[in-house]
Amino acid sequence: MTNQTSRARQAGSSAQMLRSRFLRIGTLAAAFSLFALYLAWHAAYDEPLVRQEDESPIAQARADDAAQGAQAVPLAAGAASSDLVKRGEYLARAGDCMACHTVDKSRPFAGGVPINTPFGTIYTPNLTPDPDTGIGQWSDADFQRAMHEGIGRGGERLYPAFPYAEYTRVTSTDVQAIRAYLNTLTPIHYTPPRNEMNFPFNQRWLMVFWNLFNFTEGRFVPDPKQRPEWNRGAYLVEGLAHCEECHTPRNILQGLKTTDRFSGATQAGWHAFNITPDRNSGVGNWSDDELMRYLSTGVAPGRANAAGPMGEVVADSTQYLTPEDLRSIVVYLRSVAPVIGGETHPRDQWGKPASDVTAWRGTAMTGVNGAQLFVANCASCHTWSGQGVGASAPGAYPSLIHNTTVGASDASNLAMVILHGVQRTTQQADVLMPAFAGELSDDQVAAITNYVTRQFGNPQATVSVEQVAKLRAQQQ
Ligand code: HEC
Ligand code: HEC
Ligand code: HEC
Repeated sequence: MTNQTSRARQAGSSAQMLRSRFLRIGTLAAAFSLFALYLAWHAAYDEPLVRQEDESPIAQARADDAAQGAQAVPLAAGAASSDLVKRGEYLARAGDCMACHTVDKSRPFAGGVPINTPFGTIYTPNLTPDPDTGIGQWSDADFQRAMHEGIGRGGERLYPAFPYAEYTRVTSTDVQAIRAYLNTLTPIHYTPPRNEMNFPFNQRWLMVFWNLFNFTEGRFVPDPKQRPEWNRGAYLVEGLAHCEECHTPRNILQGLKTTDRFSGATQAGWHAFNITPDRNSGVGNWSDDELMRYLSTGVAPGRANAAGPMGEVVADSTQYLTPEDLRSIVVYLRSVAPVIGGETHPRDQWGKPASDVTAWRGTAMTGVNGAQLFVANCASCHTWSGQGVGASAPGAYPSLIHNTTVGASDASNLAMVILHGVQRTTQQADVLMPAFAGELSDDQVAAITNYVTRQFGNPQATVSVEQVAKLRAQQQ
């Protein structure tokens, strides 16, 4: 038996194993769902929708925090109201409310951002104080219930595309500071489009199931054995900053897979990398300063650049965090369990400069040729050798050698960068790589991607024309 046929057999039998595993999981899930349906029915009817603490004042919120021992997290206790608003603005940035609630920069926080889920599209609501279309008529308690329990003003269950599973950990004091800040925004009269959720997911009460398996209501509890810095980092990462929404894979019920935290996940075409301390698959070989620099500027020179959703996280959120908070985040990330992927090298340790350009310069090329397309479209900025221009200066055209997107074991992010470009505005630099979706066809994008990974990155990472077509269709 040749190696190939044995490999094919193995693949065949593992596909069978997978199928039978799925069948088993399927049966289990069906039984589970019936049980959950039964529980949900009861939960829906037994749960009072309007509760007493709905009317509780902010003072009560503070008392709750004190009772929960949240004082280990620095609080703005007794802060004057302008301080409260400033603190709220800082926290709203840490929570990146902007990214999901602003579709058009001229209408900040007025909502309308389409969020694609496997079950349909949700449009984010208007968070400005407009009384008719925003949250102007919400009480502070309504707001707190939304953030802590994922329940809307009318008692309806909110979809977990709103990261309340993380925001539930945020202290009541911090939630009220965010509310105080939102109250100071210019009211904008704007009604976002209606959700387009498929049946049965348009039934909000079904979120009872999701909550049953994936949601634990409750504030962050500091670990007394850990340093305050670690606790602050855990509070931010597991709470407001909701890093896990993108970086932790999901289980079959679309909840976060708690056994593989921070090990990487794909959403809307982008792979949010493994950021556990594993040296090959994660960010174990980055220094603390490199991680902090990446979060505050979007660049760790010689390793990584933040594009796509991470570019937005940096631009709208992490660039505004204080050095103390960034350091806390890094301290905490260093402490999570390393998750080993299949990688043999770190993502940022692949590739060598191209040296063959003279060999084929002037020779007539036929068909779609990745190297030639690279020289025509990319070399003006990244140079034909792939080494880039400007080294580590802010706004440099980065080297494609030793770059995590080019060295990743999955070439999707690279194809996404080519299709959609890079736009990231920070206090440090205004970064722009043009999008090529309009100029290059799917086979051209695939050819450039495969040339770039072969020459400058991980040669095992390839992309097919069909995959590029799918990635192109992802909304940006
Ligand atoms: C990852 C995207 C995302 C982020 C980040 C996000 N939200 Fe939302 N938010 C949503 C979505 C989606 C909904 C609508 C859920 C629904 O319709 O069930 C929502 C709903 C809400 C609601 C309920 C409003 C209503 O009219 O029902 C409030 C309040 C809210 N968000 C506040 C915030 C605050 C404050 C922040 C920042 C700390 C924030 N959100 C960050 C996606 C997000
Ligand atoms: C909206 C989704 C999203 C959120 C939220 C998010 N990330 Fe990311 N992250 C990504 C994506 C996608 C990438 C890959 C970016 C690229 O290829 O340029 C990434 C890349 C990274 C990297 C670089 C890894 C590498 O090898 O290049 C680090 C470090 C990181 N994220 C840390 C964080 C931290 C810390 C948080 C929370 C404060 C966070 N991320 C929140 C989507 C997200
Ligand atoms: C006009 C200049 C320009 C051109 C042309 C250009 N790029 Fe870029 N490229 C940039 C800039 C600017 C960045 C982002 C730098 C940063 O993040 O600070 C970038 C970033 C990248 C990254 C890193 C993305 C990440 O997430 O780490 C890759 C990979 C890349 N470009 C590949 C290409 C390829 C392939 C082409 C040709 C199809 C191309 N670039 C064409 C300017 C350019």
